[in-house]
Amino acid sequence: MLKKILYTFIIISATFSCDVSASLRSTKSIDPEEIKHRPLKTQNGKGMNFNNLGAFEKDFIRECRGLELADEGVQRILIKGAAYGRLAMRALRETYLTHIVVNELSTKNLEPLVSKLFSMSRSKNITEKAAVDRMSLLPGDCLELPSNPQLSALLNDTGPDNSFDLIMCANVLHFFDGEQVLKFFINTFNFLKPGGKAYIFTDSSTRTIPANNFSPPVIYMKATFAIIEAAKKDPSILFPGLIHDKWLQKSPFLKEILKRKPNGLGLANYIPEQTLQFISDQLGFETISKTYYSAFLVDGSAIIKEEDGGPHYGLILRKPADYGDTKVTMENLDPTFVAQCLGAQEKMKRFIETEIDFPAKYPFVKAKIKDKGKEKVKE
Ligand SMILES: C[S@@+](CC[C@H](N)C(=O)[O-])C[C@H]1O[C@@H](n2cnc3c(N)ncnc32)[C@H](O)[C@@H]1O
Repeated sequence: MLKKILYTFIIISATFSCDVSASLRSTKSIDPEEIKHRPLKTQNGKGMNFNNLGAFEKDFIRECRGLELADEGVQRILIKGAAYGRLAMRALRETYLTHIVVNELSTKNLEPLVSKLFSMSRSKNITEKAAVDRMSLLPGDCLELPSNPQLSALLNDTGPDNSFDLIMCANVLHFFDGEQVLKFFINTFNFLKPGGKAYIFTDSSTRTIPANNFSPPVIYMKATFAIIEAAKKDPSILFPGLIHDKWLQKSPFLKEILKRKPNGLGLANYIPEQTLQFISDQLGFETISKTYYSAFLVDGSAIIKEEDGGPHYGLILRKPADYGDTKVTMENLDPTFVAQCLGAQEKMKRFIETEIDFPAKYPFVKAKIKDKGKEKVKE
């Protein structure tokens, strides 16, 4: 139990300051196939490349294999926000899918995968050599993929709509605000072939925060989740977990701990299950499954296991098999829903300004600075 709590804490504070894995390494020393025991920090400060996604990842690989058996034509999958490409390499090694497209925002994060493919291309083993041709790397913002000329060229200039059998995106959505989440879902829906599936794994807004840990990351998380719980009570808020650190600087103590965030102040969006379901429904997706997961330490390795109420959420969605040609755009969705997504940042900023009273109503956000400038915190 303790191990589970500790690890939950480590994972939740990974975007704050704790370093789960080895500290930032040079990309030369990273092998995407050797990220085995712990998540590994990315080069651009956007979280970790997970060492495993547990049952969710197994299902995805199984689905890839099923696809290869069922479809004799081009089977194409897309992995968005792939970081170092650990899962992409699994898909390449464990299937004969004809086309694995790997997208990642940071070219630095993609370097280990580039090196891996380069060394495979020079291998004397022809199977190894041939595998390289089945993978394409697509650096850049996944939200801009509809107009990405490189993607268009990969698809023989046909455009990406109705082109992919499977799309996987893990641990990326929480970097997006409401408008970006909407764009993400629209692109994903349009890119899928009818009957194609999206695998989405993300941080949910359900969390286990250790009660008696006074360190700053925990206070930060407690403050964040106190806001989320308050915002969830307002039915007009679609993204109660959308919080920019700079909106939190309401007490000298929070200001102090946020000053020490290594990657600067940022935006995080822990999206409730209900919101994800609502968005999927608005788009016209069919829900195949939804499962909560938690991270555990087992024999020194981090693993993700199904657990009700866990802090991670895995969603499998399908574009209806009989879906016609209509492309989804912001213009043909419900205007109230679109406005809720586009105005999400402003809404939460105002909510924190007007409804959240730190520290008066939240006594845990209090600082006792002791030990000659060494900050210590007490609830
Ligand atoms: C927390 S890591 C997750 C990596 C991997 N998907 C996993 O689950 O292990 C998030 C990754 O998403 C990438 N990312 C963030 N925003 C993105 C965007 N708009 N387009 C593409 N990738 C993005 C980051 O650069 C980072 O490598």
